[in-house]
This record gives sequence, structure tokens and C-alpha cells, in this order.
Amino acid sequence: MTVSFHRLDPVGADRTALVDFMTRNVFPFHVRPRLTAQDVEEQVADGAYRDEDNDTYWVEHTDLGRIGVLRLEDLTESAPLFDLRLDGPVRGRGLGVEVLRAATDHVFGTMPDVHRFEGQTREDNIAMRKTFLRCGWLKEAHYREGWPVEGAAPVASVAYAVLRRDWQSGTTTTFVWEDLTV
Ligand SMILES: CC(C)(COP(=O)(O)OP(=O)(O)OC[C@H]1O[C@@H](n2cnc3c(N)ncnc32)[C@H](O)[C@@H]1OP(=O)(O)O)[C@@H](O)C(=O)NCCC(=O)NCCS
Repeated sequence: MTVSFHRLDPVGADRTALVDFMTRNVFPFHVRPRLTAQDVEEQVADGAYRDEDNDTYWVEHTDLGRIGVLRLEDLTESAPLFDLRLDGPVRGRGLGVEVLRAATDHVFGTMPDVHRFEGQTREDNIAMRKTFLRCGWLKEAHYREGWPVEGAAPVASVAYAVLRRDWQSGTTTTFVWEDLTV
């Protein structure tokens, strides 16, 4: 296993490094592509990185060191979501697949009540969509004009998920996508 997760303390030891990571990187496919230190401080104060629903980890790679941040959301539900942000210099090397596989192992391996794990991204975030598909996740929704874009028209939001039973068996089951004939 080359990827591991280290729970970070957003109000204590990791605060400065977290603000640095979130402000020196650009996230072109997030609602807020550039964050200021004040934005991050507000998110920390709101509990976005750690409270009963949220938790955040440094993504560590055995050869490359710290390569990103993984945030889990909706942890009080049995179907959490995630937000994965790799550091700029390590993007574009296919590492997302390894990290998402490890994140899925982490969630299902440490959270016995969780039966599905979800993620959403913009339709034009091809790197993330390919990462989902390469990890065996299934597209379950395509929300037209569901993702606001500052200064431009909204784009679609696409939702993918993996079920615990598919993770256990190493398969990707599907469902009848076509709607009723009326
Ligand atoms: C999204 C993310 C996790 C993907 O991980 P990654 O390791 O950087 O993924 P890659 O850039 O290697 O892309 C995976 C595949 O998509 C392809 N791809 C990327 N952008 C593409 C584009 N615009 N058009 C076509 N293919 C594209 C890559 O070529 C690659 O395919 P290949 O292996 O066949 O060459 C990472 O880039 C990241 O953290 N981005 C910023 C934050 C973000 O958007 N997070 C997602 C929100 S959950």
C-alpha cells in the first residue's frame, strides 16, 4: 500500500499547513477555485474540516510524501461523501486512482455502518470522472445545470457511488437506468 491517510487537526497542529495547502493550490472544478486564508479560516471555524459530520486527512504517499487532502462529509449518515484535492505538482500522473481506492478501503474498512460511499463532480472534470470509473464506481445521477460556475453558465453535476457489497466482491453492479415507459 503506497497511499495512507493521516487524520489532521484543523484547529491545532495542522492549521497553518492546511491553510497553506488550500490557498497555494487552484481547484478549477470546485465552486470556489481559489480560496483565501480567510475563506479557509472560516471553513475551519464552521467545522467543515472536522465536526460530527466532517473529517479530514492528509494523503501521504510512501515515495512522494504528502500529496493531498481528503475530506469526508456526512459522516453521521450511512452514506458519506468525499472531497479529494491532490497537490498541483502531483496531478496528471494517475495517482487519483490509487488514492480513491485507498479512500474506499479506509471508509468501508473502518466504518462498519457505511454501506455506500459517494462522490460528486462537475461534468467537465474528466480526470475525476475517469478516476471514478477506473475504481469501479458507478455513475448514478447527472444533474443538469446543477453546478454553479462563477461568471458563467452552470454545468451539470455528476454523481458516482460504490456499494460496500461491490467493494467486497470486487464487482460493479448496476441498475435499470431507463425510466418507465408511459
Ligand atoms: C481530480 C484528481 C483527483 C484526478 O487525479 P489525477 O491523478 O490528477 O488524474 P489524471 O490527471 O492522471 O487523469 C486521469 C485520466 O483523465 C485524463 N484526463 C484528464 N483531463 C482530461 C481532459 N480534459 N480530457 C480528456 N482526458 C483527460 C487523463 O489523461 C488520465 O487518463 P490517462 O491515464 O488515460 O492518460 C486530481 O487531478 C485533483 O485532485 N484535481 C483537483 C481537485 C479536484 O478536482 N478534485 C475532484 C473533486 S472530488
